[in-house]
Amino acid sequence: MLTIEKTNSALVHLESFKNICGATNVFVDEDVLSAYASDETEDLHFLPDIVVKPGSAEEISEILKICNQYKIPVTPRGAGTGLSGGALPHLGGVLLSVERMNKILLVDERNLQVITEPGVITEVLQDAVKEKGLFYPPDPSSRGSCMIGGNIAENSGGPKAVKYGVVKDYVLNLQVVLPTGEIIWTGANVLKNATGYNLTQLMVGSEGTLGIVTKAVLKLLPLPKYDLLMLVPFSDAEKACAAVSAIFMAGFTPSAMEFMERDALEWVMRFVDNSIVAIEDDIQAHLLIEVDGNDVEVLMKEMEGIATIATGFDCGEILFAEDAQQKAELWKLRRRVGEAVKSHSIYKEEDTVVPRAELPVLLKGVKEIGKKYGFHSVCYGHAGDGNLHVNIIKGDLSDEQWNGSLKEGIREIFFLVKELGGTISGEHGIGLVQKEFLPIVFDDVQLRLMRSIKKIFDPNNILNAGKIFDL
Ligand code: LAC
Ligand code: ZN
Repeated sequence: MLTIEKTNSALVHLESFKNICGATNVFVDEDVLSAYASDETEDLHFLPDIVVKPGSAEEISEILKICNQYKIPVTPRGAGTGLSGGALPHLGGVLLSVERMNKILLVDERNLQVITEPGVITEVLQDAVKEKGLFYPPDPSSRGSCMIGGNIAENSGGPKAVKYGVVKDYVLNLQVVLPTGEIIWTGANVLKNATGYNLTQLMVGSEGTLGIVTKAVLKLLPLPKYDLLMLVPFSDAEKACAAVSAIFMAGFTPSAMEFMERDALEWVMRFVDNSIVAIEDDIQAHLLIEVDGNDVEVLMKEMEGIATIATGFDCGEILFAEDAQQKAELWKLRRRVGEAVKSHSIYKEEDTVVPRAELPVLLKGVKEIGKKYGFHSVCYGHAGDGNLHVNIIKGDLSDEQWNGSLKEGIREIFFLVKELGGTISGEHGIGLVQKEFLPIVFDDVQLRLMRSIKKIFDPNNILNAGKIFDL
């Protein structure tokens, strides 16, 4: 069995790392190590032995060659905004941050592509292409701080995924440093590719376990000229969920279709100190619905059509965003729900995803399971994708319950998700905190294939070892 143990042997190679990256880009100070010990996952904290901030693929290659030779654990990291512990250096060793590799190398307007380094902040890239009338849709809530490299590692989604797809739909070609130090390109800068196995897509969502992305060629779209936004209240959360699939069945494809339970919206309004929405006493959930396109008349008609369908599910008075500022405020509320929940209580976030029409059954089941195990949950997420973030709140649960019987409750949620044809993560990944649940959705054969792939890429199991699964 290939195992990798917690080790501080990385320190033996401190001088070599300094020679490769420059002394000012290698850190062993306690405060720096501590700053890289956590990501956004729960309250987890693991100190690395060394933090390195290389500036190129060649430097990463040299670092990985040493780590591979001496079997030193390496944890790659973008901005550390992940929610499954993918960037946590739980085995110590080298924490490799790509933050210095933060250049957009080329916006190729002729081909509607962008070539970028992994340390570029997602919103910076979106804004840079927007200036040229182009559009990079994947927009995780953390887009103001997360990085393209991390988004590729996690196959991130976000609200626009419902119309435009997730990161995998935009990645055309990747330069990757393998754990052995070899540098490869995975494909070609093309929209179609039927040439051998799809190494590009194998890298996307591999959570930093197969290689470190050092350049990415991404597809762009023309920027839609207009968007309209509305917030629809419902007195019954399950009916809100049922309205979602009805809207798609009627032929509409909103550019966002987000769900927020009452608590989610209330908590975030308190968190950001904004009471733009007056929530009536009988309201249990909201849908935030956006349409976009190039003809505003058509969009108005779509909004009307969608509103009519929502009425059939007992919705309350709809708030149509009047201007860009109101849209921005509503979006800010939605994007900051996660932070609001985190500030409210210790919590665990489950990233359930089911076929869209099963959403009402999932929500009902989550609440029933909560009653059975005595936990309160706050649910929100990308309803159009059937992707429900279930935030389980510690509240009054004892540490014993939190660390013990709650797990059975989470298992029950995941069994339900599986039964409904879904899976246990839509966009946050498996990382460290969900790996014990992976056998719920993959059998021994599937896990054997995945482990075999990992061993081919990383024979010494140095790169993000113990993430997704143990070998
Ligand atoms: C969101 C993150 C948590 O949807 O995925 O806000
Ligand atoms: Zn999300």
